[in-house]
Formats: sequence, structure tokens, C-alpha cells
Amino acid sequence: MNNVATATLIPLAQVEPAMIEELLDRAFGPDRHDRTAYKVREGTDWLPALSFAALDEDDMLVGTIQIWPVALTDADGRRHPLLMVGPVAVLPERQSEGFGHALMAGMAAALDPKAPLPQVLIGDPEYYGRFGFTAAPTGGWSMPGPFEQHRLLVCTANPAVLPSEGTLGPWIG
Ligand SMILES: CC(C)(COP(=O)(O)OP(=O)(O)OC[C@H]1O[C@@H](n2cnc3c(N)ncnc32)[C@H](O)[C@@H]1OP(=O)(O)O)[C@@H](O)C(=O)NCCC(=O)NCCS
Repeated sequence: MNNVATATLIPLAQVEPAMIEELLDRAFGPDRHDRTAYKVREGTDWLPALSFAALDEDDMLVGTIQIWPVALTDADGRRHPLLMVGPVAVLPERQSEGFGHALMAGMAAALDPKAPLPQVLIGDPEYYGRFGFTAAPTGGWSMPGPFEQHRLLVCTANPAVLPSEGTLGPWIG
């Protein structure tokens, strides 16, 4: 049952870092740092203007979304900037109440509509498809670790600007 109206979004920067880490451990498990997504964004910081926390009706922290600057480096060494979405995390006991939806909508609303960068994430297409994410452009992409290609998803108004082959990594320098 979706219950989006009860979600209040605040900038993630207003939340104590230890509380964010605790929530992520509960949503993904403590071995989450081994995931390939962490390697893609290694050495970067999440973007405060696009990252949010969801609070419930009692102002308790129930979910977070973080957005990171990453690059897709093509065969000629050119770097194409993208936004990496994730983790998107909702406390296990508060899932399927609409908090994930509210976090995705909040992030999308914060993007500059005149120049939105393509967004990339690793997640279930059955969930993220509803927000416009598809694995169609990523068939020739690689990452610094194991991943399932059908879970490497992109959302963009103009897929033609994306290289068909490239390697994802952090946007640094
Ligand atoms: C995935 C996640 C962020 C979704 O947030 P949420 O607040 O639970 O989801 P919402 O309330 O917005 O949406 C609920 C709907 O999505 C569906 N859904 C949730 N996770 C899903 C998944 N992994 N695959 C397919 N459908 C999913 C639910 O069945 C529900 O469907 P319904 O509306 O038909 O009943 C949350 O469940 C979560 O933190 N999961 C653990 C961490 C994770 O796997 N994150 C994704 C990778 S970045």
C-alpha cells in the first residue's frame, strides 16, 4: 500500500552521518561495502543538493537516497559525466509504504530540468522501471567489479548521447 503523503524529505546533509550508515547497514547488510557500486563511486562524495532523507510522521528517519558524480569513460578515453543514484534505502520494517517512491521523486524534482545529466543505478528493473530506468543503453558498459547487466539501469531523455561502450568509475578531477 502506497502512502507517499506521510513522507517528509529533508536534505541528507542535515542527518548525522552515523545515522545514515546505520540505516544503510539495516537495509543492505554490513557487507554492503564490497558491492561494485561502492567501487564505481570510490573517492567521491555524494552531492548534497540531490541527496535526501525521508522522515515519517513522527520525524523518524526511515529512508535515504544519495547521488554521486560518476563518469563513463569511452573507448577513446573521453569521460562522459553521469549521476549515480544509490543507495536508495528504506528501513526493512517500513518498506512498501511509498518512502522509496518519495525519495526517487524528490531526487528527480531537484535535477535541473534544463540540463539533467543521465542517471545510472544498479537495481531491480521491476522496481526502477516505473521511474524511467532501463538497461537498454548499458549492454556494452563495464564496471570495476562483478554485476548483472540487466540490473545496470539508466534514465535519460536522450539515450543517443550515451556511448554504447564504456567503463563506469568515479568522477574525479
Ligand atoms: C527498494 C526500496 C528502496 C523500495 O522502497 P520502498 O519504500 O519499499 O518502495 P515503495 O513503497 O516506493 O514501492 C513499493 C512497491 O514497489 C515494489 N518493490 C519494492 N522493491 C522492489 C523490488 N526490489 N523489485 C520489484 N518491486 C519492488 C513493492 O512490491 C511495492 O509494489 P506495489 O506498489 O505494487 O505494492 C526498498 O524496498 C529498500 O530499501 N530495499 C532494500 C535495499 C535495496 O534493495 N535497494 C535498491 C538498490 S539501490
